[in-house]
Amino acid sequence: MNNFIFQNATKVYFGQGCVKEYLSCLVKASNTVLLAYGGGSIKRNGVYDEVTGILRASGKAIVEFSGIMANPTYKKVLEGAKLARENNVDLILGVGGGSVMDCCKAVSLAARYDGDIWNDFWAQPGVISVDPLPLGVIVTVAGTGSECNGGAVITNEEKKVKTGRDYPKLNPRFALMDPTYTFSVPVKQMVSGSFDILSHIMETYFSAPDGDNVSDDIMEALMKSVIRNLRAAIRDPRDYTARSNLMWDATMAENRVIKMGKKCDFQCHNMEHQLGAFTDCNHGCGLAVLHPVYYRHIYKEGLSKFVRFAENVWGIPRRGRTDEEMALAGIESLAEFIREIGLPTTLQELGVTDRAVLKPIADSCGISAGSYKTMTHEEILDIFNECFA
Ligand code: NZQ
Ligand code: ZN
Repeated sequence: MNNFIFQNATKVYFGQGCVKEYLSCLVKASNTVLLAYGGGSIKRNGVYDEVTGILRASGKAIVEFSGIMANPTYKKVLEGAKLARENNVDLILGVGGGSVMDCCKAVSLAARYDGDIWNDFWAQPGVISVDPLPLGVIVTVAGTGSECNGGAVITNEEKKVKTGRDYPKLNPRFALMDPTYTFSVPVKQMVSGSFDILSHIMETYFSAPDGDNVSDDIMEALMKSVIRNLRAAIRDPRDYTARSNLMWDATMAENRVIKMGKKCDFQCHNMEHQLGAFTDCNHGCGLAVLHPVYYRHIYKEGLSKFVRFAENVWGIPRRGRTDEEMALAGIESLAEFIREIGLPTTLQELGVTDRAVLKPIADSCGISAGSYKTMTHEEILDIFNECFA
């Protein structure tokens, strides 16, 4: 196991009724709350009424920051920061999924920082020397795990770059997680969010070191939990047990616990983020298209781990198969699962219709130092071409 330092500053309140029970207490010290949310799902499912009712009953002034889009933009971040400054906001409350939470983290920094946060913290890593505005989140969809980390993935539309940084100072102070809030998530989004969870785990699992380490053991349990509970939630979207497990799987995948002692890959995420920057595609759907093809490119360099994945996650018996056959059978089980849950399997299905765009996207992708096989931009283009149709 590699050396590590572990800290996670977010306090989690999990379970049915947690917002009703704890929100008023958590906002006690604040006067003016920036209530941040997305395109309006919280108005349709009753969450908005519940949250604003509690804030009003607690005597808080509410400043609304709405319309945070999937793949939040830097422009939207600046809009939120301006609102927060002009209204002397002392707490940001983000209600939504990864897009809302990520945007709020960047707003919390931009509201307190006088320079250009894109240049100083997203274009390259920086050191945050100011105290960001306090942030609390109410999670409404399981997927990114953004509620328990300092990661914020922001799209700079002008530069055509979508990139994420994880600053511990941007961890939300608290996260309220009521699985019943996710009942209204459309099946397509639930499936894509769940694949994002699986991807976060795989991107960590398939990386050195591969000797006996507890992170890999935890990850196998988590992957099996995502697969089992997603199937259950597809059968019955109001299955509380399944939704609870998916919600906590998402947090466990990205609260830094499983990354301890691991190098981490995230090459597929680098590729998907640039696909997103150019095409605004859905994050989990993009990952689903890329993963099996990427793994067919790298499995030989991580053969024993791919064999272990086939055996321990997909339950594939040896029955005389060679290591290579086992590894490929595991990757095929992953591909079959993607088809079973109805995610796209080609870039065309994802909405990328012009092959010509693939080269500039490939050339703009970051190269992971944690991959079993260090990619070149040429090989990334090959992968995109194989994914095309
Ligand atoms: O905008 P509204 O109307 O709220 O609708 C949203 C949105 O359309 C809807 N939704 C959310 N909760 C709902 C609901 N619909 C009905 N009922 C509910 N309870 O779901 C749609 C997708 O929401 P979004 O927040 O965009 O999804 P997700 O959580 O997958 O976040 C994706 C963003 O997070 C980034 C992605 O790149 C993408 O920009 N990521 C953030 C990470 C992090 N901070 O750690 C890591 C990830 O790898 C990822 O890159
Ligand atoms: Zn992701």
